[in-house]
Amino acid sequence: MAEKEKETKILRVRNIYDDMENMQTAAEILAGGGLVAFPTETVYGLGANALDERAVAAIFRAKGRPQDNPLIVHVCDLDMIGPLVAEVPEAAIELAGRFWPGPLTMIFRKSDAVPAVTSGGLDTVAIRFPSHMVARELIRRADVPIAAPSANLSGSPSPTTAQHCIHDLMGRVDAIVDSGSCGVGVESTVISLAGEKPRVLRPGGVTVEQLREALGDVEVDPAVCAPLADGVQAASPGMKYKHYAPRAHVVILRGGREAFAAYVNAHRDGKTYAMCFEEDVPALGVPYVVYGGERDDASQAAHLFSALREMDELGAETVYAHCPARTGVGLAVYNRLLRAAAFEVIEL
Ligand code: TXA
Ligand code: MG
Repeated sequence: MAEKEKETKILRVRNIYDDMENMQTAAEILAGGGLVAFPTETVYGLGANALDERAVAAIFRAKGRPQDNPLIVHVCDLDMIGPLVAEVPEAAIELAGRFWPGPLTMIFRKSDAVPAVTSGGLDTVAIRFPSHMVARELIRRADVPIAAPSANLSGSPSPTTAQHCIHDLMGRVDAIVDSGSCGVGVESTVISLAGEKPRVLRPGGVTVEQLREALGDVEVDPAVCAPLADGVQAASPGMKYKHYAPRAHVVILRGGREAFAAYVNAHRDGKTYAMCFEEDVPALGVPYVVYGGERDDASQAAHLFSALREMDELGAETVYAHCPARTGVGLAVYNRLLRAAAFEVIEL
């Protein structure tokens, strides 16, 4: 892991009109080859010029990220994409029309302009056009495509506030743009259009149901809801690493409200916490952190990563998380929780 060595500027940007000076400072750092954490509608990203090999290599060092895990390249308009890709399939045009700007990342066959360090040595490149105004304005001012993984230390829960970025990256990056909380709360949906059929590699803010409505047949990679089998190569290298994990031991409990309360109450020891829905609270006899409403997948997504980080602040040793429904954005919530729990699920 990289030593802490940089002086990190904290740049508040409430909106792009009133805080133009801070916007410009952040954009100049990016254009000059530096590292800037910035907000998007999903989670905060750690950005660098995607075409500058040295700048991109510094992202991997700052995060402690494995070199073979490729980065998403962020653009602020469709014209920026042409030079980065080898071809634009029909399906991409359809999806761009429906979901961009927004929480969707598409994987294309790449052009030679994208350095191997950015694409993790693959012959494809992931591209995303975010909807967050600060992200778009920052890319526009920097005037280069921006490579940006989530702005957390590798393995930790993704950051949904500037506070989370400060916790993980202070002293490791040149600047952190502070624009409050991210709306969606889980990372973008990743869909590959480089194979025979469109295939979801990571569920996110744009749902599988929405993608099927747009394209018809869409596959979901088996690694979304299960550990990779031995010897199988990950379609998305990020899926093979342990992820989103707090220090506590996280276990998912699948079952109804009563069964959930009965199980966690029977394990009360002062260090055991419930990560639960609002509706669970009245029956709980252990300390808890609420991460959303039982039927409200958007609120679960928005609070999931803060709830996981809060467990560390509380000193939780064991966390029993109530399993979300695996539909809509709930599939993304489930996918992240599974990795935080290292796939440990108890059926009640
Ligand atoms: O919402 C998001 O997507 C956030 C914000 C900052 O935009 N970014 C983000 O990046 O989540 P990151 O690096 O944490 O996750 C990118 C995922 C990884 O699982 C990576 O393996 C996969 O996308 N990925 C990137 N390029 C790929 C490629 N060419 N082929 C397959 N998977 C790819
Ligand atoms: Mg990440």
